[in-house]
Amino acid sequence: MMVNLFTPIQLGPLFLPNRIVMAPMTRSRALNNVPNDLMAKYYSLRAEAGLIITEGTSPSPNGLGYARIPGLYSDQQVAGWRKVTDAVHGAGGRIFVQLMHTGRVAHPANLPPGARILAPSAIAAPGEMWTDTQGLQPHPVPVMMSEEDIRAAIAEYATACKRAIEAGFDGVELHGANGYLIDQFLNTAANRRTDRWGGSIENRIRFAVEVARVAAQAIGPERVGMRISPYHNFNGMQPDPDMDALYIRLVEALNDIGLVYLHVVDHRAMGATGPSDEYKARLRAAFKGRFILSGGYDAARANADLEAGKGDLVAFGRPFIANPDLVQKLKTGGEIRPADPATFYTPDAKGYTEL
Ligand SMILES: Cc1cc2nc3c(=O)[nH]c(=O)nc-3n(C[C@H](O)[C@H](O)[C@H](O)COP(=O)(O)O)c2cc1C
Repeated sequence: MMVNLFTPIQLGPLFLPNRIVMAPMTRSRALNNVPNDLMAKYYSLRAEAGLIITEGTSPSPNGLGYARIPGLYSDQQVAGWRKVTDAVHGAGGRIFVQLMHTGRVAHPANLPPGARILAPSAIAAPGEMWTDTQGLQPHPVPVMMSEEDIRAAIAEYATACKRAIEAGFDGVELHGANGYLIDQFLNTAANRRTDRWGGSIENRIRFAVEVARVAAQAIGPERVGMRISPYHNFNGMQPDPDMDALYIRLVEALNDIGLVYLHVVDHRAMGATGPSDEYKARLRAAFKGRFILSGGYDAARANADLEAGKGDLVAFGRPFIANPDLVQKLKTGGEIRPADPATFYTPDAKGYTEL
């Protein structure tokens, strides 16, 4: 059978009318970290996607490292997200929330009072962080998490998963990619621990696996996916000699838990160091659930990769920004307008719902 972007597919309990995924994209419109009507409009305009994955959303006050990103731990945030999920479902769509705890990629000026910048080890991320009050600031040295901090962070993910269902989401994507907290545990550049949370492969994957386990216990594995970024060098992450084996071992552990999908970041088109096509094929072969490809796709390449069996679904990021009607354009070959990076993270409707 020929498979292309418009071949329907089942994702756990969800029927998806096409294989086009809207990739998670931070857009920084959540003033005071609460989702709002503007965001509901933005997402509902893109509801033709087989699946929308939201922007990175923090399960904890401690994970709100960037300015104006949303959370999913307070009643107000649940109510805000309910507007988004109602609007998307009303427009015929399906939506997962991406849970992103930023860990050391943060600045105190972006965090609510009392929040702490936590990471596996007390090693600052390279580079700078935007703050609305002080402009660009260097990343501070994070606090090395205690055993109790780690337990609390895992519990926050479980609670956020329950709150996601309360807010009307169809499921949750755990952000294990791009140098945020889960990835900080996976990667030796940020994790120099010598206890059971660092060192060996088994120890470094433990946080990711524990988060996946409690998420699956909270809402069912058929509603939980994970995004990973092997060989990615964003936010100070670095490849190490164990990396091949580490991600294969992680994927096997996720199989045991029964996660519904694995979503692999490939930012080579944006200058990242990997993953290679060969390694992605190994991950694909190792994982038992659905496999989502991403990074630099157009319709022709997406259809070719689906037909070749390289993945089950394809995520599009930047093309969705200036083309709310991207699904139609992918079908008809309509011209895809380029996104304007100047409005990626600005606070208002310009470049967001007003294009
Ligand atoms: C403005 C912007 C924000 C992004 N925010 C996130 C995010 O919150 N979580 C995430 O996993 N990836 C994020 N990404 C990465 C995208 O999901 C995607 O992997 C990347 O844009 C490559 O796909 P593309 O070539 O189709 O744009 C972001 C990308 C962009 C352009």
